[in-house]
Amino acid sequence: MNNDKSNILNQTQVENCESNSDLRQKLPRKLAVHFLSNSNEWETPQYLFDELNKEFNFTLDPCCSVANKKCSKYFTIAEDGLTQSWRGETVFMNPPYGREIGKWIKKAYEESLNGATVVCLIPARTDTSYWHDYIFNKAEIRFLRGRVKFGDGKNSAPFPSAIVIFKANFTG
Ligand SMILES: C[S@@+](CC[C@H](N)C(=O)[O-])C[C@H]1O[C@@H](n2cnc3c(N)ncnc32)[C@H](O)[C@@H]1O
Repeated sequence: MNNDKSNILNQTQVENCESNSDLRQKLPRKLAVHFLSNSNEWETPQYLFDELNKEFNFTLDPCCSVANKKCSKYFTIAEDGLTQSWRGETVFMNPPYGREIGKWIKKAYEESLNGATVVCLIPARTDTSYWHDYIFNKAEIRFLRGRVKFGDGKNSAPFPSAIVIFKANFTG
C-alpha cells in the first residue's frame, strides 16, 4: 500500500526517528531507500552553510559526524556535544531531528546566555514545546522560503525549515 495517507504517516515517522535502523523497520522498503540514501543525516547543503558562514564566521559545529562536520572544531556523538561547553563560540547547529531535538534547542538557548552565539537550522515546527519555551521572544527567526534539499538529495524535505539565531547575552 502506498497511497497519499500512508506517505504522510511515514514522513512523520522519518522526522521522529533518530536512527537509520529505526527507520528501516518502520518504512516500506521503497520509501526507506528514498529518504535514507538521499538525506541520511539531514546534512546541511553546503551553499546554505556558506551563506550563513559569510555572515557569522562559525567556530564550532557541536553535532556532526567526522564526514559531515562544518567547522574545524566539532563534537560528534563520541564527545557528545550536548554535554560540552560552547562558551564563547560562534556555533552552527543543525541538530539531530529525532526526539532529542528539544534538548539541543534548550542547550543552544542556555549557551547563548553564557556568551555563545548559536545559529540553528531546524524544522519550522512552530507548535512544539521547544519553539514556545526557548525560541519565541528569545531568538531571531528567519523562515526559509521553500523546502531545503538536505545532503546530496534531489528531493526537498517533507517539512519547512527555519534559521533560529540565539545571540550571545540576548536581552530581548
Ligand atoms: C542533522 S545532522 C547535521 C550534521 C552536520 N552538522 C551538518 O550540518 O550537516 C546531526 C548530526 O548530529 C550527530 N549527533 C547525534 N547525536 C550527537 C551528540 N550527542 N553529539 C554530537 N553529535 C551528535 C549525528 O551523528 C549527525 O551527524
